Amino acid sequence: MRNEPHGRGVETGTPFPPVNHDEPHEARGDRLVRLEALGDRGVVEVRTERHGVLAVGVAAGRPFAVSNVCRHQFAKLGRGRVTADGCLECPWHRARYDVEDGSMTSGPKGRVFGVKPYSAAVKAIGGRLRLATHPVEIRDGAIWLSA
Ligand code: FES
Repeated sequence: MRNEPHGRGVETGTPFPPVNHDEPHEARGDRLVRLEALGDRGVVEVRTERHGVLAVGVAAGRPFAVSNVCRHQFAKLGRGRVTADGCLECPWHRARYDVEDGSMTSGPKGRVFGVKPYSAAVKAIGGRLRLATHPVEIRDGAIWLSA
Protein backbone atom coordinates (compact mmCIF):
# COMPACT_ATOMS: atom_id res chain seq x y z
CA MET A 1 0.00 0.00 0.00
CA ARG A 2 1.44 3.38 -0.95
CA ASN A 3 0.91 6.14 1.55
CA GLU A 4 3.09 8.99 0.32
CA PRO A 5 1.11 12.25 0.00
CA HIS A 6 1.03 12.34 -3.78
CA GLY A 7 1.06 8.63 -4.42
CA ARG A 8 -1.79 6.35 -5.26
CA GLY A 9 -3.50 4.02 -2.86
CA VAL A 10 -2.06 0.64 -3.73
CA GLU A 11 0.63 -1.09 -5.70
CA THR A 12 -1.19 -2.87 -8.49
CA GLY A 13 1.78 -4.65 -9.99
CA THR A 14 0.75 -3.30 -13.39
CA PRO A 15 0.59 0.15 -15.00
CA PHE A 16 -3.19 -0.15 -15.06
CA PRO A 17 -5.62 1.10 -12.42
CA PRO A 18 -7.40 -1.47 -10.22
CA VAL A 19 -10.62 -1.48 -12.24
CA ASN A 20 -10.78 -5.26 -12.60
CA HIS A 21 -11.93 -7.65 -9.94
CA ASP A 22 -9.17 -9.30 -7.97
CA GLU A 23 -10.40 -12.89 -7.65
CA PRO A 24 -13.48 -12.13 -5.53
CA HIS A 25 -14.49 -14.45 -2.72
CA GLU A 26 -17.58 -16.45 -3.62
CA ALA A 27 -20.57 -15.99 -1.32
CA ARG A 28 -22.46 -19.10 -0.27
CA GLY A 29 -26.07 -17.96 -0.35
CA ASP A 30 -26.33 -15.08 2.12
CA ARG A 31 -23.06 -15.94 3.83
CA LEU A 32 -20.65 -13.47 2.26
CA VAL A 33 -17.24 -14.05 3.77
CA ARG A 34 -15.55 -15.28 6.92
CA LEU A 35 -14.12 -12.51 9.12
CA GLU A 36 -10.66 -14.05 9.06
CA ALA A 37 -10.57 -13.61 5.26
CA LEU A 38 -10.67 -9.80 5.54
CA GLY A 39 -6.97 -9.56 6.34
CA ASP A 40 -5.12 -6.32 7.10
CA ARG A 41 -7.09 -4.21 4.62
CA GLY A 42 -10.39 -4.94 6.35
CA VAL A 43 -12.28 -5.30 3.05
CA VAL A 44 -12.48 -7.81 0.20
CA GLU A 45 -14.46 -8.34 -2.97
CA VAL A 46 -17.28 -10.87 -2.71
CA ARG A 47 -19.31 -12.21 -5.63
CA THR A 48 -22.98 -12.63 -4.67
CA GLU A 49 -25.91 -14.07 -6.58
CA ARG A 50 -28.28 -11.25 -5.66
CA HIS A 51 -26.09 -8.14 -5.96
CA GLY A 52 -23.10 -9.01 -8.11
CA VAL A 53 -19.65 -8.24 -6.70
CA LEU A 54 -19.69 -6.18 -3.47
CA ALA A 55 -17.02 -4.64 -1.27
CA VAL A 56 -17.50 -6.37 2.08
CA GLY A 57 -15.68 -5.66 5.31
CA VAL A 58 -15.72 -4.34 8.84
CA ALA A 59 -15.34 -0.63 9.68
CA ALA A 60 -15.28 0.74 13.22
CA GLY A 61 -16.33 -2.69 14.47
CA ARG A 62 -19.40 -2.87 12.23
CA PRO A 63 -19.81 -5.05 9.13
CA PHE A 64 -20.72 -3.48 5.80
CA ALA A 65 -21.44 -4.47 2.22
CA VAL A 66 -21.45 -1.74 -0.44
CA SER A 67 -21.25 -1.54 -4.22
CA ASN A 68 -17.75 -2.19 -5.43
CA VAL A 69 -17.16 0.62 -7.93
CA CYS A 70 -15.59 3.96 -6.99
CA ARG A 71 -17.64 6.95 -8.16
CA HIS A 72 -14.49 8.68 -9.42
CA GLN A 73 -12.78 6.44 -12.00
CA PHE A 74 -14.31 3.07 -11.29
CA ALA A 75 -11.58 1.38 -9.25
CA LYS A 76 -12.77 -1.65 -7.31
CA LEU A 77 -13.32 -0.58 -3.70
CA GLY A 78 -12.97 -4.12 -2.40
CA ARG A 79 -9.31 -3.82 -3.38
CA GLY A 80 -8.91 -0.76 -1.14
CA ARG A 81 -8.77 -0.65 2.63
CA VAL A 82 -10.65 0.44 5.73
CA THR A 83 -9.04 3.44 7.40
CA ALA A 84 -8.45 3.94 11.12
CA ASP A 85 -11.44 6.31 11.27
CA GLY A 86 -13.77 3.72 9.74
CA CYS A 87 -13.98 4.88 6.13
CA LEU A 88 -13.59 2.74 3.02
CA GLU A 89 -10.67 4.11 1.00
CA CYS A 90 -10.42 3.66 -2.76
CA PRO A 91 -7.26 1.85 -3.89
CA TRP A 92 -6.59 4.25 -6.73
CA HIS A 93 -6.74 7.94 -5.70
CA ARG A 94 -7.80 7.36 -2.08
CA ALA A 95 -11.26 8.90 -2.11
CA ARG A 96 -13.02 7.86 1.10
CA TYR A 97 -16.56 6.64 1.68
CA ASP A 98 -18.91 6.43 4.62
CA VAL A 99 -19.99 2.78 4.53
CA GLU A 100 -23.19 3.53 6.46
CA ASP A 101 -24.80 5.74 3.82
CA GLY A 102 -22.46 5.21 0.85
CA SER A 103 -21.50 8.89 0.51
CA MET A 104 -18.04 10.05 -0.50
CA THR A 105 -16.59 11.85 2.53
CA SER A 106 -13.25 12.82 0.97
CA GLY A 107 -12.41 13.27 -2.71
CA PRO A 108 -9.51 11.85 -4.73
CA LYS A 109 -5.97 12.83 -3.81
CA GLY A 110 -2.59 13.14 -5.46
CA ARG A 111 -2.46 13.59 -9.18
CA VAL A 112 -4.92 12.12 -11.65
CA PHE A 113 -3.46 11.56 -15.12
CA GLY A 114 -0.72 14.04 -14.20
CA VAL A 115 -2.95 16.87 -13.01
CA LYS A 116 -4.13 17.89 -9.57
CA PRO A 117 -7.46 16.28 -8.88
CA TYR A 118 -10.68 18.19 -8.98
CA SER A 119 -11.33 16.74 -5.55
CA ALA A 120 -14.10 19.09 -4.37
CA ALA A 121 -16.11 18.64 -7.56
CA VAL A 122 -15.75 14.87 -7.46
CA LYS A 123 -16.71 14.85 -3.79
CA ALA A 124 -19.83 16.88 -4.54
CA ILE A 125 -20.84 14.33 -7.18
CA GLY A 126 -19.86 11.41 -4.93
CA GLY A 127 -22.08 12.82 -2.20
CA ARG A 128 -25.06 12.48 -4.53
CA LEU A 129 -24.14 9.30 -6.41
CA ARG A 130 -23.81 7.23 -3.30
CA LEU A 131 -22.65 3.66 -3.15
CA ALA A 132 -25.46 1.16 -2.73
CA THR A 133 -25.44 -0.22 0.81
CA HIS A 134 -26.77 -3.63 1.83
CA PRO A 135 -27.78 -4.63 5.37
CA VAL A 136 -25.44 -7.23 6.85
CA GLU A 137 -24.71 -8.84 10.19
CA ILE A 138 -21.98 -10.87 11.81
CA ARG A 139 -22.95 -14.42 12.67
CA ASP A 140 -20.88 -17.55 13.31
CA GLY A 141 -17.63 -15.78 12.48
CA ALA A 142 -18.81 -14.54 9.10
CA ILE A 143 -20.59 -11.59 7.47
CA TRP A 144 -24.10 -12.39 6.22
CA LEU A 145 -26.62 -10.48 4.18
CA SER A 146 -29.46 -9.83 6.61
CA ALA A 147 -32.25 -8.79 4.23
S1 FES B 1 -10.88 5.81 -8.82
FE1 FES B 1 -11.41 5.97 -6.73
S2 FES B 1 -10.56 7.85 -6.12
FE2 FES B 1 -10.06 7.69 -8.22
